[in-house]
Amino acid sequence: MEQAYPAFQWSNPTRVVFGVGELSRLAPLLDDLAGSKARVFLVTGRRSLQARGILRRVIESLGDGRVHLFDQATPFPSPDLADRALAECRGAGADVVLAIGGGSAIDVGKAVAVLAAHQGTAREFAMRQKALVRPGLPFVAVPTTSGSSSEVTASAALWDMEARRSMALVSPLMFPKLAIVDPELAMSMPMALAAATGMDAFTSAFECFWSLEAGPVSDALALEVIRLFNAHLERSCIQADLESRTYCALAATMSGIAYSNSRPNACHAVGSPLTLFWGVAHGQAVGVTLASFLRWTAPAMPHKLPALWSALGVRDLDGAVARITQVMRRCGLETRLSGLGLTASDMDLLLEHIRWDRLEMLPRPLERADARQLLEGLL
Ligand SMILES: [Fe+2]
Repeated sequence: MEQAYPAFQWSNPTRVVFGVGELSRLAPLLDDLAGSKARVFLVTGRRSLQARGILRRVIESLGDGRVHLFDQATPFPSPDLADRALAECRGAGADVVLAIGGGSAIDVGKAVAVLAAHQGTAREFAMRQKALVRPGLPFVAVPTTSGSSSEVTASAALWDMEARRSMALVSPLMFPKLAIVDPELAMSMPMALAAATGMDAFTSAFECFWSLEAGPVSDALALEVIRLFNAHLERSCIQADLESRTYCALAATMSGIAYSNSRPNACHAVGSPLTLFWGVAHGQAVGVTLASFLRWTAPAMPHKLPALWSALGVRDLDGAVARITQVMRRCGLETRLSGLGLTASDMDLLLEHIRWDRLEMLPRPLERADARQLLEGLL
């Protein structure tokens, strides 16, 4: 038999600065990147940062006169919101874009940074009517949740909730130049947010691991992400202590680095319509099918399973499914579609809107009938 040796590509150019208290180094790190006179376009959500005094601290450390604040980022940001932010960024004459917040704020900032070097609307680029061809403004991401992983990935998700569709700007030109991951910022996440965001990154690591795009580097990272969340996610949700929050922040960032080279697939393909049509939080929406897709993909990767079981601290597939279910329940997450309000009569709509293009990287092909059976089994 012919021996198969590793053959793969790997790239992730984002400089990551990780550690408790590292946000205090923001000003010198940003000056390093863009110069001490650089004008900063700062993107955040509406309330959370202000409430905790972090925003004031950040603006003071950078110097008031050089920061233009855009604090209108919302969950499920629309292309129009990105356009409004872009217009403000241009008006401010910014030299660098900084986003501090959850995945939505970071995605808006990331979109603004690259679009600043292009003519056209966010929708035109997200719908592939126009192509991203040149680097934008340097972009710095500071996450305050642990799970979007957007601080180390090359895409920005945008949502048209009225038309019930999601879209994304995607380009290697969009990798943040710098990610400052300070676990202290994740300390104020309420349990539901810690659970949903953690589940997003936990699930993405499995998808990354079983994908046909996986390689030795992404595998090593994904296994460590799974080991870390397996050890710390429950405590991060229930006790919310600094140690467990720190390891979940680490796992979330490592998950993004892993899946920036081996993209999320099946769970995200089903999660998208669950969010758009049933309003399910993203992490919950992708997590609800994790155990079922692990059952589906496991027979296609027998050589990879011992390492996966070891990362989860289990002996076999049944043990892995039981452990995933246990983690989710302890974190207050639903493990069945019925728990999210779906019934048998919803299956046609759900199947119709699965992102089938995302399923191409599954190691075991999934036909529509297979998908129906798998999802009905989750009612
Ligand atoms: Fe996700």
